[in-house]
Amino acid sequence: MSASPTNSLPASRPPAPEVMRDEIVIQVDDLHKIYHMGETQVHALRGVSIEIRRGEFVAIMGASGSGKSTFMNILGCLDKPTSGRHLLEGIDVSGLEKNQLARIRNRKIGFVFQGFNLLARTTALENTELPTLYSRIDKAERRGRAVEALKMVGLADRTDHFPSQLSGGQQQRVAIARALVNRPSILLADEPTGNLDSRTSVEVLEILQSLNDQGLTIILVTHENDIAQFAKRSIVFRDGKIRRDEPIPNRASAAEVLKTMPAMED
Ligand SMILES: Nc1ncnc2c1ncn2[C@@H]1O[C@H](COP(=O)(O)OP(=O)(O)O)[C@@H](O)[C@H]1O
Ligand SMILES: [Mg+2]
Repeated sequence: MSASPTNSLPASRPPAPEVMRDEIVIQVDDLHKIYHMGETQVHALRGVSIEIRRGEFVAIMGASGSGKSTFMNILGCLDKPTSGRHLLEGIDVSGLEKNQLARIRNRKIGFVFQGFNLLARTTALENTELPTLYSRIDKAERRGRAVEALKMVGLADRTDHFPSQLSGGQQQRVAIARALVNRPSILLADEPTGNLDSRTSVEVLEILQSLNDQGLTIILVTHENDIAQFAKRSIVFRDGKIRRDEPIPNRASAAEVLKTMPAMED
């Protein structure tokens, strides 16, 4: 891309071009996962096949134990399927060794979990910077990226705060910034609002929707229907299989919903 001095880049990332949006970023075929625990086996995924394209915002739903986290761990290259194929941006990752998987994961995937998993004695900025420590970029660039990521989640004024000095919603936003700092193409969020009250949950969804509008592919696990309504597509798991997969018509705008919710003290 050639930069022209009269056409400087905007502060936030521009939307990905439409041609890129159609590209398949995740493809899985007939995934099975069997956990072995001594004598017993748990067949957690029983033949899951799916395609997810760039720019999608998918909500994964289903009862506890239906296989959602198992599925997310495989999509995130944290775990391997027992059988089946998993392509990530066209690369077959199902056969890769642990260290190769870790490298791809670090480059392509951002994770957000229910517990924010921030280091307690470490500032928001340093927490955000952590995933860059494994990449070959210099300190100034790392710092710059962390500041940029914190700006994207609206926390530019909290860089030096420790987790204990932040609200739950702010801590989750730091966790989102940390997930974004290596500029992943996919964000995986497993029950990211599970520990948050309803207004704070919608605030987190507002950030996720805005990142999705900028081209980030998002896959979000939630057991709350209200939260799933902010995605563009919902997939329901039952007993390790996909039971439903459908677009969400008239998806809700978190920014609009927030206007109707009473403000709360921080
Ligand atoms: N590491 C593991 N070892 C053994 N069994 C597991 C493990 N993780 C999940 N399971 C089992 O696999 C099934 C699916 O679990 P999980 O993917 O965590 O479901 P969900 O996230 O939908 O609640 C459950 O029966 C669960 O007990
Ligand atoms: Mg789970």
